[in-house]
Amino acid sequence: MRFHVLTLFPEAFAQPLQFSIVARAVQRGQINIDVADIRDYTHDAHGTADDYQFGGGHGMVMKPEPVFEAAEATLSGYDAVILTTPQGELLTQKLVEELASSPAIAIICGHYAGVDERIAEGLATRPVSIGDYVLTGGELPAMIIIDAVTRLLPGVVGSPESVAGDSITTGLLQHPLYTRPAEFRGMTVPEVLLSGHHAEIDRWRRRKSLERTLEHRPDLLSTASLTNDDRRYLAG
Ligand code: ADE
Repeated sequence: MRFHVLTLFPEAFAQPLQFSIVARAVQRGQINIDVADIRDYTHDAHGTADDYQFGGGHGMVMKPEPVFEAAEATLSGYDAVILTTPQGELLTQKLVEELASSPAIAIICGHYAGVDERIAEGLATRPVSIGDYVLTGGELPAMIIIDAVTRLLPGVVGSPESVAGDSITTGLLQHPLYTRPAEFRGMTVPEVLLSGHHAEIDRWRRRKSLERTLEHRPDLLSTASLTNDDRRYLAG
């Protein structure tokens, strides 16, 4: 999978993607991350990439010319050209799965109050928001997209089961996890997990997932695939 990022802050990508699973995926050649500096495509001595809004209003707007020029100079054959923006489609595991099936993804990082609409109209094919809050820029959202997509690629995460069974992928929040020691500062691991009874353990995990989802994300229950047993449990 090729990722190509267009950003005003390429240095933001130097460290964060150089550890753990994403770094290993780069080393193994499973992914490739190219970062282009939009400011290299500006034409004045100050490297001006933003300007005032037509019509007035607070905040600067990213100019279209350097972004188009950066894209034209560095991108070819990209299925999805994502624009990170709070105005975009919400990033969900479903969208991550869809993105993971394309061989190459370009990501334009928005900045300032926003980007000139012609970038969204004429260049980006997919505006994406990572959540209903506003960040100072699109670099963290781009890294989140790269991270979430990378872990779905074949062979990136050790066991495929851990990806298939993870939170949200199943439609429910994940059950609690425990490791050794069995007792820590007076807090104990639920007995059932030490019992070796796989059917009982599965039942306990399913119920904990249901309880958590009901408590923190009841909206997910309307689309999760629930058994009659699940429904009875939720009904109390
Ligand atoms: N830029 C600023 N806030 C953002 C968000 N929530 N998602 C994507 N890009 C952003």
